[in-house]
Amino acid sequence: MKLSLFFVLPVLGQQFNNPVLWQDLADLDVLRVNNTYYYSASTMHYSPGAPVLRSYDLVNWEFIGHSVPVLDWSPKYDLSGGNAYVKGIWASFLGYRPRSDLFYWGGCIEFAKTHIYTAPAATGPWTRRSTIDSCYYDAGLLVDDDDRMYVAYGNTNISVAQMSPDGLRQVRTQVVFRSPKNVGTIEGSRFYKYKGSYYIFVTKPPDAQYVLKAASPFGPYTMKVLVNRIPSPVAGSGAPHQGGLVTTPSGAWYYMAFIDAYPGGRVPVLAPVSWGADGFPTVQAPGSRWAASYPYPGPPRAVKSSLGVETFEAPTLGPDWEWNHNPDVSKFALGNGLVLRTATRTLDLYAARNTLTRRIVGPQSSATIELDFEGMRDGDRAGLALLRDSSAWIGVQKDGGEVRVVVVHGIEMDDKWRTAKMGSEVEAVPIQGGTVWLRLAADIRPGAGRAGIFSYSTDGRSWHTLGRPFVMKTAWQFFMGYRFAVFNFATKVLGGEVTVRRFELNMP
Ligand SMILES: *[C@@H]1O[C@H](CO)[C@@H](O)[C@H](O)[C@H]1NC(C)=O
Ligand SMILES: *[C@@H]1O[C@H](CO)[C@@H](O)[C@H](O)[C@H]1NC(C)=O
Repeated sequence: MKLSLFFVLPVLGQQFNNPVLWQDLADLDVLRVNNTYYYSASTMHYSPGAPVLRSYDLVNWEFIGHSVPVLDWSPKYDLSGGNAYVKGIWASFLGYRPRSDLFYWGGCIEFAKTHIYTAPAATGPWTRRSTIDSCYYDAGLLVDDDDRMYVAYGNTNISVAQMSPDGLRQVRTQVVFRSPKNVGTIEGSRFYKYKGSYYIFVTKPPDAQYVLKAASPFGPYTMKVLVNRIPSPVAGSGAPHQGGLVTTPSGAWYYMAFIDAYPGGRVPVLAPVSWGADGFPTVQAPGSRWAASYPYPGPPRAVKSSLGVETFEAPTLGPDWEWNHNPDVSKFALGNGLVLRTATRTLDLYAARNTLTRRIVGPQSSATIELDFEGMRDGDRAGLALLRDSSAWIGVQKDGGEVRVVVVHGIEMDDKWRTAKMGSEVEAVPIQGGTVWLRLAADIRPGAGRAGIFSYSTDGRSWHTLGRPFVMKTAWQFFMGYRFAVFNFATKVLGGEVTVRRFELNMP
């Protein structure tokens, strides 16, 4: 009884802890519709793209869908004739238009065109409605009180576009603000209206947020700093920046920003905001620090956790899952475990199609799969990877009739995201039978030296560590953080398959 009381107390105190959601969900856009909050994030080369999360208290979030069902802008998003690593979905907008009861998502792909998708509900179905022949780089949407729609976007020179009444085409655009020399690069626009004034929130990467304020959407804007190199509530991470503003049903305001927290990626932190007499917001940061905890914005309400067991009984994948690039849909099946038929013949994990990923939950979590490998062909490799631009895996490898559990380290990309090294065996053991359990435990607390530890089991109960710990890279340039990734590829001939009977994501 004493023990359970101890664990219940923080909830009774109604304090929440930062980060509110320890998963890689950068470039966030956050909004409230009625009593529900929604959250969108960048996903680059992962498919489906732009996840939508839902919350009823701004603290507890669940995945409910994706705004971009398939990355169909070029064959390289299928890993065909090249790859799209670090391309695809960058900072985009998620918005809601009350007059038509429609959700809007818009984003610029590869600095070229902007695609706009809509959905009758945040859960979807999402469909592409238009393509604009210019780039709304780092776009933020404002649906004004009079139903007019505007998009703020750009880098350093910030523009505002006014959209057609359906929100799908550009009517006019102009530069509304040029960043002063002493501030320099600004981007990541989010667009709001409060008490008749227009606000564009912009980040100065990687550690500051500024607010632009004007009486009209097209300016002229005046600028004020919101946060600048404010210490993070998470030891070892960068400063909170690049976020958005959201209001609760009772009229309180919050700023949600992200922190650079590699190797895990970029994760959101939340803090209350108050409005000054000058009409600019201020983040409540006692002692000029972003606090580790604040009072709950409203009554806490639990939602579906990302943790737990998946047995792939449904005919479609849940919204917590994303593929590395678009999958070949003819090469996997669901309903009775996840059947992965080899989709690519390659020696290169980064070139293999149909690698299925999950975000690592921080500060530490593990992924475990039960893998039926009876259908593997000679030369096949299937297992569980710690996936980023410097990767490693544990898997089953079949070569010339010999089946082994193998740990491979040192799979590397170069700075143009081309494969530089395909990795080498660190340790291996022979294996019999047709089923193996593979586990990958990852520590993604920000900082150098964090590792992933691989282990296997032949009965699902007793575990054996295989290979030395794999130390994860913390450079930010790949943007996306490390993920758990389930893969199956052929090195000799297609036609083999494995079945993932069970996937479990757990905190230690
Ligand atoms: C919000 O509430 C209004 C009024 O009840 C309703 O018409 C609308 O569908 C709701 N929107 C969403 C997305 O829940
Ligand atoms: C901003 O606009 C000015 C004037 O047109 C131009 O000289 C400058 O290169 C632009 N800066 C960026 C970052 O686009």
